Amino acid sequence: MTAQLIDGNAIAAHIRAEVAHRTAALQARGIRPRLAIVLVGDDPASQVYVKHKANDSTQTGLVADLERYPAIFPEAELLARIHALNADPAVHGILVQLPLPKHMDAHRVIEAIAPAKDVDGFHVANAGALLVGRPGFRPCTPYGCMKMLEHIGCELAGRHAVVIGRSNIVGKPMALLLLQKNATVTICHSATRDLAAITQQADVIVAAVGRRNLVTADMVKPGAVVIDVGMNRDADGKLCGDVDFAGVREVAGWITPVPGGVGPMTRAMLLVNTIEAAERAAAHPTPG
Ligand code: GUN
Repeated sequence: MTAQLIDGNAIAAHIRAEVAHRTAALQARGIRPRLAIVLVGDDPASQVYVKHKANDSTQTGLVADLERYPAIFPEAELLARIHALNADPAVHGILVQLPLPKHMDAHRVIEAIAPAKDVDGFHVANAGALLVGRPGFRPCTPYGCMKMLEHIGCELAGRHAVVIGRSNIVGKPMALLLLQKNATVTICHSATRDLAAITQQADVIVAAVGRRNLVTADMVKPGAVVIDVGMNRDADGKLCGDVDFAGVREVAGWITPVPGGVGPMTRAMLLVNTIEAAERAAAHPTPG
């Protein structure tokens, strides 16, 4: 059996087209959805990510303001800048790219963002809303993974979903989103004993650790859906995920490639969150 490919690029293109439509509708009412992207320091990967996010936004009709600050930028000044963006009614979404320089407290910075503009879904108010099943912004990567599962018609109720990784931005929210769809969810992590014995029972596997070849064919039940969130380099410097793609695709029912799987979906869901923020602001305008 060879798995069917879940084409993140194609699904993301559909989502971007919908966002462009919603953006045009707001523009017709004189509202220009605007995303502030804040980058502190010169982390090379972050520079590439923010450029992609800004370009995606612009191509969808959103306005993206990319603000760059030096690595030595004081935290107090960053907090002041975030407060100004919170207070600016023309700004609908605020994204502070992580990681931040070591002298900054990332939690404090994230908590400074107004939850209604937290399009990354990282603020504790949004994390808490997800926990208790209330509306709020969902972190883009797990949100994108859920859209992929929805796209292929994956029925989750009563199925066993195994999430490998417990980060605040992927593993934990992923598990909660799957639970919300009535999956039976297991979260595995670095202290998990006999990972293979657990993954072999999974109908859905989400690998989000950041270690290549973490999931191999022998760990996958025939026909399972395998979502690969990993972003690694192989020995030749080629981009690869956490899943041994060549081996696992011979066993799985569905599989996401890397690149071209979760990555484009994460970027698309940022646009969804941003247009959502702008629509909510338009429905409930606050005095500027
Ligand atoms: N760094 C790595 N991934 C992300 C993300 O999704 N959002 C932000 N703000 N920073 C990141």
